Amino acid sequence: MDADALFADVVDKYSDHINPYLGRLMAFAGFGVEMRSEGCYIWDHEGRQFLDCLGGYGTFALGHRHPKIIEAVKNQLDSFGLSGKAFFNKQAADLADKLAEIAPPGLEYSFFCNSGTEAVEAALKFAKGATKRSKIISTDGSYHGKTLGALATIGRDKYRTAFEPLMPGVSLVPFGDAEAGVAAIDGDTAAFIVEPVQGEGGINLPPDGYLKALREACTRHGAMLIVDEVQTGMARTGPWFASEHDGISGDLMPLAKAIGGGIMPLGVMMGTKDAFDALYEKNPLAHTSTFGGNSVACAAGLATLQVIEEEGLRQRSVTMGNRLLKGLQEASKNFPDLITEARGRGLMIGVEFAMDEVGELVVAQQLKRGLVAAYTLGNPRIMRFEPPLVIDENQVDFAVDMFYESVQETSEILAALV
Ligand SMILES: Cc1ncc(COP(=O)(O)O)c(C=O)c1O
Repeated sequence: MDADALFADVVDKYSDHINPYLGRLMAFAGFGVEMRSEGCYIWDHEGRQFLDCLGGYGTFALGHRHPKIIEAVKNQLDSFGLSGKAFFNKQAADLADKLAEIAPPGLEYSFFCNSGTEAVEAALKFAKGATKRSKIISTDGSYHGKTLGALATIGRDKYRTAFEPLMPGVSLVPFGDAEAGVAAIDGDTAAFIVEPVQGEGGINLPPDGYLKALREACTRHGAMLIVDEVQTGMARTGPWFASEHDGISGDLMPLAKAIGGGIMPLGVMMGTKDAFDALYEKNPLAHTSTFGGNSVACAAGLATLQVIEEEGLRQRSVTMGNRLLKGLQEASKNFPDLITEARGRGLMIGVEFAMDEVGELVVAQQLKRGLVAAYTLGNPRIMRFEPPLVIDENQVDFAVDMFYESVQETSEILAALV
């Protein structure tokens, strides 16, 4: 099958059997069929090479197909694949042990699952079970996943409205507003759920001390703080976990995306001994998952932690992040009418456009130039850059140059329309 026929065949199958509307959007933006990937690059059905600055929304911290993760998965498959469930699982035990070593203090236990939204579901259930309360507070613009429990907590009507009534007892407060957050927490609160940096909401950074204020209020009222590190975890913002910037620990901490090393789906919900005791003491099977904690995913997870340490990726996230942010800020200065701000922490960076439509045009222009970056799920004005942490200086500079050229051409197109 030649390249055009292959593309047409896949688009037809999307249209007939997956999601015609999404298929149309992707084809319109200029996305092809992914054929191969390695390091920071993806190749499509026409053999075109793309620098991946979307990074699977934070999944590809180690880049694509990191050899150490492939090796760990292959080695595991040589002995057994999915665990038999009745036996002890050494890979899960080793990963939980290592996670307890690197996690913020007090987060000693791990529940394993397969995705971010499942990890959030677990956190909500643990919080309710442990506190015997049902009130959950979340933040405007937040994103925690689309299964029904997680969906009830996200601060974006667009995804919630069609499915109401959702889980009762959830209220929303403005993100980053410590006073409003603290005022909402009381003796009926099971949990406050928050991202240390809002990802899908538009790379929103809270002011210093925000998480600390929430931490203190939760402790004061016996409520649990759920710090959702699904996107920010595993050195995306520099330290292992973004909550370290504020020097706090959540009681519960959902993880996913990067922890599977870009090879395996893996979700984890870390929690305190108190939270786990409260749920499991009376019923050790109170929360379970058939595939969660499978040996192959856990082998990948363990190797991921090793690679982040061995390759100094926490430091690299900071140095490459500073270079990329500075470059994007410099480039943005040339377009004061189109770009309002470039902001970020580590390699979690967003560029904010002045209008909704600009992002879509810039995505298409970037693709033409071999750069993949896209706007955030909840905010089309924010072009997000979350490249692999293994990105090098030349690749960062390429991303900045292609971004500049793409906005330049977009501004010319827009000027011609006026
Ligand atoms: C902070 C956060 N929580 C939860 C999720 C849901 O994760 P998943 O898509 O793996 O279910 C996401 C996904 O983008 C996320 O960014």
